[in-house]
Amino acid sequence: MKILIVGSGGREHAIAASVAKSPKADKIYCAPGNAGIGQIAECVQIGAMEFDKLVTFAKEKEIDLTIIGMDDPLVGGIVDAFEAAGLRVFGPRKNAAILEGSKAFSKDLMKKYNIPTAAYENFDDAEEALAYLETADFPIVLKADGLALGKGVLICNTLEEAKEGVKSIMLDKQFGTAGNRMVIEEFMTGREVSVLSFVDGKTIKTMTSAQDHKRAKDGDQGLNTGGMGTFSPSPFYTEEVDAFCKEHIYQATVDAMAAEGRAFQGIIFFGLMLTPKGPRVLEYNARFGDPEAQVVLPRMKNDIVDVFDACIDGRLDEIDLQFEENAAVCVVLASDGYPVKYEKGLEIRGLENFEGRDGYYCFHAGTKLDEKGRFVTNGGRVLGVTAKGADLKEARENAYAATQWVDFDNKYMRNDIGKAIDEA
Ligand code: AMP
Ligand code: GLY
Repeated sequence: MKILIVGSGGREHAIAASVAKSPKADKIYCAPGNAGIGQIAECVQIGAMEFDKLVTFAKEKEIDLTIIGMDDPLVGGIVDAFEAAGLRVFGPRKNAAILEGSKAFSKDLMKKYNIPTAAYENFDDAEEALAYLETADFPIVLKADGLALGKGVLICNTLEEAKEGVKSIMLDKQFGTAGNRMVIEEFMTGREVSVLSFVDGKTIKTMTSAQDHKRAKDGDQGLNTGGMGTFSPSPFYTEEVDAFCKEHIYQATVDAMAAEGRAFQGIIFFGLMLTPKGPRVLEYNARFGDPEAQVVLPRMKNDIVDVFDACIDGRLDEIDLQFEENAAVCVVLASDGYPVKYEKGLEIRGLENFEGRDGYYCFHAGTKLDEKGRFVTNGGRVLGVTAKGADLKEARENAYAATQWVDFDNKYMRNDIGKAIDEA
């Protein structure tokens, strides 16, 4: 098979690495990809939002299967564009990707179908939102409705802060049109868990759990980022939690989407909070997590191409999804200054140290080859150094040891990825 992957981050590198293990994959392309993906796939310089060009490319090369990694093209309708051209594609259509594309939609869906989530109100009008705040309890959570690179969520401790937040989201349009609507919701406390799942429109199979570290600095300080590291499985995702989510959240979400005429085929990523009152949905995403994919996919035993095929053909019930009984930790190596301001074009040294090392992975996020053919940094998150271990502690030790195998100027990482493991 000829397979095309759309995206350019560490998640797409992890997807490409899994696809490359499939005996069915004869040739892999990635658009636009990055320097690491370029070692296992042919990168094509077409942007993820250039649907016409991607469709033309897929037809010309007779691509058998296209996998969409990123949220923006999904929410923009890339799957519909591929299907309209008669191409086989993995991911939700536009009318289903709205599960991630509109927080107001997803909150209304959860309310209508009794899926446990934080209490909330949606607002189209800043004045009404400001009036609502006058009687609200604090802290309170403000969310821009649309996609905002994971940054559209503000936790406000006081009325003053919340008023400023409403102004910046709805009036100053800090997150652009994503802030045309907003959700104001109850603040919850508890541990967060990410559960990714394969969905074929009616059947859902969840993957092993993971936990992300979204803040830039140790001790969950600093700004929100795309994710500074992950571990899998989460020791807090117990059998009891799993049973609750199976009963109230996972299938209920898939059934709700189908009942709304928005059958979901692709990946649903459940962002859960384990609150004192039980698990609640924080958010849905319509794609693999980044960097969750980097710890989940290396532990998956199935041929991923088989699973993608089963989802597309509506026979996921035939797949026995299996994960290794071990653990994995991913530590993101960023450029110092991320997520605000950072340098690009710095040479990356030591990548060869990962060659032939079983259980170790150096997933590339923001990297490219310079004119001399050297690997250089090309983004805020540069590499996702991942290692497996018999258990979480061993995986963490292995991952942190491996962070020393590579180097670039201004290399920055958190030193406490997986620290929560010690409390489990
Ligand atoms: P989201 O993009 O909706 O996952 O929100 C980003 C982050 O904001 C989450 O990972 C949580 O840490 C935090 N968050 C979102 N909603 C809430 C809430 N209702 N209560 C407390 N924290 C929240
Ligand atoms: N790591 C969180 C996300 O992919 O949205």
